[in-house]
Amino acid sequence: MSLNIVILAAGQGKRMKSRLPKVLHKLAGKSLLEHVVDTAKTLNPNNIFIIYGHGGDQVREQLKHLSVTWIEQTQQLGTGHAVAQAIPQIDDNSQVLVLVGDAPLVTSETLQQLIKQTSANSVGMVTVTMPDPTGLGRIVRDTSNHVIAIVEEKDATATQKQIREINSGIIMAPANKLKIWLANLKNNNQQNEYYLTDIMTMAVSDNVTITTVNAATPEEVQGINDRMQLLQLERYYQYQQAKQLMINGVTVLDPQRLDIRGKLDCAPDVTIDINVIIEGNVTIGTGSYIGPNTILRDTNIGENVSIKSNCVIEEANIANDCTIGPFARIRPGTALANEVHVGNFVEVKNSKVAAKSKINHLSYVGDANVGQGVNIGAGTITCNYDGANKHQTIIEDEVLIGSNTALVAPITVGKGATIGAGSTLNKNAPADALTFNRAEARSIPGWKRPVKKQ
Ligand code: UD1
Ligand code: CA
Repeated sequence: MSLNIVILAAGQGKRMKSRLPKVLHKLAGKSLLEHVVDTAKTLNPNNIFIIYGHGGDQVREQLKHLSVTWIEQTQQLGTGHAVAQAIPQIDDNSQVLVLVGDAPLVTSETLQQLIKQTSANSVGMVTVTMPDPTGLGRIVRDTSNHVIAIVEEKDATATQKQIREINSGIIMAPANKLKIWLANLKNNNQQNEYYLTDIMTMAVSDNVTITTVNAATPEEVQGINDRMQLLQLERYYQYQQAKQLMINGVTVLDPQRLDIRGKLDCAPDVTIDINVIIEGNVTIGTGSYIGPNTILRDTNIGENVSIKSNCVIEEANIANDCTIGPFARIRPGTALANEVHVGNFVEVKNSKVAAKSKINHLSYVGDANVGQGVNIGAGTITCNYDGANKHQTIIEDEVLIGSNTALVAPITVGKGATIGAGSTLNKNAPADALTFNRAEARSIPGWKRPVKKQ
């Protein structure tokens, strides 16, 4: 049977106290809803429907890259009413899996288990036992342990409130039956809502079996209602990622102070110091060290690279045995070959630097092609921008550039050239020659410094 996934995301999320709809808040750098959609996609469904409402334009605009079907629920009349909005678009001979847009950490494994065990004549759901189930729907079972109902906290008796097994909100049912049950929902409950959960009692009276899958942990199905819960789940998720790195042979100096907002592919024997932030897709080769307070975004780092503290590296490729920082900024389009050194207060943008070259102090290298074995002195600037256009600087192999040099692009410094310190060059420098321009020093003997007026 084909699979249709309905993701409930129309609620406002009042307790977030935010202009942003709840499902657009981010966990590990990705919106809550996108986490759920990404997991949904791993199940290869026929369709993914997102039920949206509050802040709908914002949600659709921000997530327009997702290939999903958007369905508006203009009034939020309850979870059952929300699912019913998708029913007209769902084939009778399919299975419907309902996911919750504000519970980002549900895993593909748990959902696969649910799909496996739910047949055309049964209802499945994901439950978990919570230490504190307050606010959640309780799973009511009969004496032979069969599920007979889900009771919302607000409708529960004192005895039912003692139940600690709760409804995650994730429910799977055959479309043809769901269609009939949803059409028969009533809103005669404490919240005057059409509860999706009421289909359980209908399933029981129709002799449809209800089966449950246990979530691996409460966090897996934890829904987010406020910023404290978002924070707790963020830290939980980050800790899980750090733990996985450690299992894979990475030294994480403090798992509480590592944030991975994206995907980190890290070889064994990498060491990650404190307060590192990883964004987008990052790979790090074996033996490398990432110093404290460093941000790596969409970057590949080779083997035995040492990144000292406080570096920001974005959209760059760093080959093996490089040394970078402290306080270096490597911007998009940069490729450093093996054994390149980039030191403190150096900015490199959209430039290639070949093997063994050094830019050790206080320089800006932008739109440049730097050869091998080049040494760029402190305070060297590639003047790549004329106010309208960007121009390229070419520095050939074995060049030595003296400190405080301005290279006005477009310009080529020929192989083996030496540039005298303090030069401003706007013409190509020939290979194997010393080139400099520098005002000659003058001395005025006996000159007196001004003195302060009384
Ligand atoms: C729901 C369940 C409860 C479960 C809990 C898990 C019902 C009646 N209750 O309760 O058993 O323990 O989730 O978190 O289903 N939504 C819509 N449209 C609506 C109402 C809700 O799209 O009209 C969406 C919300 O945006 C949210 C999800 O459905 O993503 C759950 O709604 P919420 O109001 O949070 O339900 P709970 O009361 O938490
Ligand atoms: Ca909720």
